[in-house]
Amino acid sequence: MYAPAVASALPSPLFLLVGALACASAEPTADDSQAEADSCSLAASSTTWENWGAGFFAGYCRTCHSSGTADRRGAPEAVNFDSEADALAQLDAVERTVLDDGTMPIGGGVPDVELERLREYLACGR
Ligand code: HEC
Repeated sequence: MYAPAVASALPSPLFLLVGALACASAEPTADDSQAEADSCSLAASSTTWENWGAGFFAGYCRTCHSSGTADRRGAPEAVNFDSEADALAQLDAVERTVLDDGTMPIGGGVPDVELERLREYLACGR
């Protein structure tokens, strides 16, 4: 019974175009796939909330996922990335949606180098 609402919430063709471009530019990078050592911690990592995470989540997520955003564009009320605590509480969901499924951010467009840093942040934040 929710199907009509979901269908009408789907964005414009521009959205599809951006998604297609993101896929076209996704090349595997050969460099540091073992960057995420199991023993990693955010305290020791060069990728921190301060020097990277805050900007990443602000740039790619908070237009929809912030308690302060005017138009959430359908993003769930409980899913916000306003602080490092917010991000750390949702590492699994971030990994699943951004890295595994590629469903977030809607429209895609995150460069590979940023996805690598997200991988490191996720590994070190656990
Ligand atoms: C253009 C708006 C928009 C942007 C930008 C966006 N999201 Fe979302 N997000 C949504 C909407 C709408 C939903 C609910 C529908 C859905 O789950 O697909 C959602 C749902 C989610 C969920 C909950 C659904 C689940 O499967 O757990 C997570 C987690 C999430 N987003 C993470 C992110 C992250 C991380 C980013 C940034 C890298 C991001 N989103 C960027 C709109 C957005």
